Amino acid sequence: MVRPFCRDETLARLRAGAPAVLPSLLACDFANIEREVRAVEALGVSALHLDIMDGHFVPNLSFGLPVVEAVRRISQLPLDVHLMIDNPGDYLERFRAAGADTLTIHVEVASDPRPLLDRIRSLGAVAGLALNPPTPLSAIEASLPHCDIVLVMSVMPGFGGQRFDRRALEKTRALKMNPNCNALLEIDGGVTVETISECAEAGTDLFVAGTSVFHTADYAAAIGQLHSLAAAQ
Ligand code: DX5
Ligand code: ZN
Repeated sequence: MVRPFCRDETLARLRAGAPAVLPSLLACDFANIEREVRAVEALGVSALHLDIMDGHFVPNLSFGLPVVEAVRRISQLPLDVHLMIDNPGDYLERFRAAGADTLTIHVEVASDPRPLLDRIRSLGAVAGLALNPPTPLSAIEASLPHCDIVLVMSVMPGFGGQRFDRRALEKTRALKMNPNCNALLEIDGGVTVETISECAEAGTDLFVAGTSVFHTADYAAAIGQLHSLAAAQ
């Protein structure tokens, strides 16, 4: 069993790797998940992004604990677990035990996310808070000191391959300027060679990329090009 990382270690790796392209396994070939994980791991990515969907918070189902646990067994990388579920508080301990290194919850399902974020930290994981495109930054302002990562959604969550929503850029810029925000800034949805430069310019540290990595013939070229564009800003 590959051991999970502690919070400081995960944060240090993510900070050192930034700007970092994090492949989202949602777009990988699940019939060959081990091969897919090893392929991107060999390219030196900083972490893997895993999308958990419950069919309630988002209108789609993806995968859950057994897949996180299976990926943990075959990968040395930090696992960035994005919980698109209605009741994250019921599952934090189980996802951490399965091998999650970061746990990101959505503000839309938590009237006060602070106790949940603190619980994630107390489990030794990195605490992330996500907000959907229509959700204003004011919804997370009070929680910023409790966040290690702010995940700015640039699509409505639920599906890969959607068009980038530019409202994410404005939010990222504002977070970058906010003295109360020391979190890493992550963007998720529609990140491609057309959109990544603007995301980087706005201040994004971590770029989730599903379709623009796994639906290409050459992952090395795809990640290399995305990374160079992000690093050029
Ligand atoms: C969307 C997920 C994303 C998804 C992104 O609900 O949170 O992580 O994998 O996919 P692309 O990169 O294809 O937009
Ligand atoms: Zn995601």
